[in-house]
Amino acid sequence: MTSIGILGAGRVGANLAGKLSVAGHRVTLGVRNPEDTAAPAAGIAPQIAFADQRTTARTADIVINATPGDSSLDRLVGLRTELSGKLLVDVSNATRDTDDGLPGDLCYPGSSLAEKLQAALPDTRVVKTLNTMLFMVMTAPETLAVPPTAYLSGDDRNAKETVTRLLGDLGWQPGWIEDLGGITTARATEAMVLVVPHVLRRHGFRPFAVSLAS
Ligand SMILES: NC(=O)c1ccc[n+]([C@@H]2O[C@H](COP(=O)([O-])OP(=O)(O)OC[C@H]3O[C@@H](n4cnc5c(N)ncnc54)[C@H](OP(=O)(O)O)[C@@H]3O)[C@@H](O)[C@H]2O)c1
Repeated sequence: MTSIGILGAGRVGANLAGKLSVAGHRVTLGVRNPEDTAAPAAGIAPQIAFADQRTTARTADIVINATPGDSSLDRLVGLRTELSGKLLVDVSNATRDTDDGLPGDLCYPGSSLAEKLQAALPDTRVVKTLNTMLFMVMTAPETLAVPPTAYLSGDDRNAKETVTRLLGDLGWQPGWIEDLGGITTARATEAMVLVVPHVLRRHGFRPFAVSLAS
């Protein structure tokens, strides 16, 4: 059992929390208002704890960033002390949105949020994954007609092995997980988000992932 803190209790955070909790991990959801029991994530599983985001980062062994990517750098740098020595799994997308609320452009062209995070948090091991699919696929990859791909980017081999085990707990088979290499490879997977608005406008809001076919 691992102590996992998830920053952000929206669609991604709540979804991951539910499945990781069922898999036997001790999960805390980091929210801005822990007292707000009317929040959508409040009823997902009785064993999931709620705390403010600083407490969540401090008390967890593994921290997952499921907050808006465009503001994540400042937010996570503000948690530098709490994140020191931890594994940070970044599943966010740092985009500027268009008028319809869908991703329109990258916040860090020529780089990536994951690289910025790793540079700003040298005592934290950053792994980028799961940002290349709709949130429901993250915890139910077997439901797609074609096996999806979960890409991994990170400089620390042990950290990526730990994340690979977590992905297994979420239902990912080893053959669906693609370790692309160091953290700089995240600029490729972060750029994949640019395909999302076009797919959603053509096909509506249905599960999909950007998969590697070979
Ligand atoms: N949705 C997807 O299918 C999908 C897929 C891949 C990656 N992602 C990425 O995953 C991240 C979360 O997406 P989502 O769809 O779960 O978003 P969401 O439903 O809007 O949830 C975002 C969460 O972040 C919190 N939050 C918002 N602003 C914050 C701030 N300034 N400080 C701290 N917490 C803040 C929100 O808390 P409050 O409840 O307090 O507002 C909410 O719990 C994003 O970076 C997104 O790009 C999403």
